[in-house]
Amino acid sequence: ATGLHNVAVSKGKLYIGTATEMYKLNGDAPYAAIASDINEFGMITAENSMKWDATERTQGVWTFTGGDNLVNWAIANGQKLRGHTTVWHSQLPSWVSSGGFSAAALTSVIENHTTTLIDRYKGKILMGREPFNDDGTFRSSVFYTTLGTSYIATALHAARAADPAAKLYINDYNIDGLGAKSTAMANLVAQLKADNVPIDGIGIQGHLIVGAVPNNLQANFEQFAALGVEIAITELDIRMTLPVTPEKLAQQKADYKKVVAACKAVPACVGITVWEYTDKYSWVPGVFSSQGAALPWDDNLAKKPAYDGIVEGFN
Ligand code: G3I
Repeated sequence: ATGLHNVAVSKGKLYIGTATEMYKLNGDAPYAAIASDINEFGMITAENSMKWDATERTQGVWTFTGGDNLVNWAIANGQKLRGHTTVWHSQLPSWVSSGGFSAAALTSVIENHTTTLIDRYKGKILMGREPFNDDGTFRSSVFYTTLGTSYIATALHAARAADPAAKLYINDYNIDGLGAKSTAMANLVAQLKADNVPIDGIGIQGHLIVGAVPNNLQANFEQFAALGVEIAITELDIRMTLPVTPEKLAQQKADYKKVVAACKAVPACVGITVWEYTDKYSWVPGVFSSQGAALPWDDNLAKKPAYDGIVEGFN
């Protein structure tokens, strides 16, 4: 098989996917040609256009244009879609983040947002996200401050009711290897299952650093799988300190291979999504100064050694 998605499928996985957005697909034809190539990517995630600030910036006033166009584009290419995201502490419109809601009112705000969004994209996947701090304590957000942990069950119940067929994921970063935050996620999912809250999967974001990928990925994936959920790597990128050197590219290749091999080794790991496929459009340099080059294609849309690392990880 050639192409990342085809290689993954040939090894029993469901997909390799990428995050993207319509403005890039419309404005950059060479970029769009790769993103729409079903041999490379069988799954698309909206990088921003399905988030709360993009879809319900004013309470009850909905904007679906960006998400709808991306869904239609993916369907036209034969690609599946991963919803992203219903309830997250970041990229919230101020009417939500500024608080002031009673617990009952905020619960209903979460239910309405989740129900409307999921109903719109019925038949697709979705996830809620980032409940934890790195030490495994719950992250302070308008949701946690007003509702404690109950907001998670509220969102999951509303999502299940809106689309009984959707796979419901909970997602976080720095839960790649074993550690306090991964333990907290495992405990949360065990509790959700004990409480009969619908939860189908754990999304491991995979925002990693060249030369610093944890060695116990597989053990961690297995601890999640043992809870009876599927897992997916949902936002993979492996950044380096710039400038790029051949040595760093070689290490990055080994790092991609390591992540893919861990997913391959655990049957419950169903697929991998890269958070954009090309360095040209990565979020990394905008947030981490002097870091970047985190993806399998370079700024000029040429495949990097990391691409071969992904293929080798499956073989
Ligand atoms: O659209 C505006 C544009 O009009 C304006 O000129 C420009 C100026 O800064 O900003 C543009 O919006 C930016 C948006 O990306 C679209 O490019 C926002 O400022 C910027 O904050 C936003 O960043 C996104 C980030 O989430 C927000 O937290 C990144 O693209 C996106 O890749 C990133 O993705 C997150 C996942 O959703 C969750 N996990 C972590 C991951 C990385 O932070």
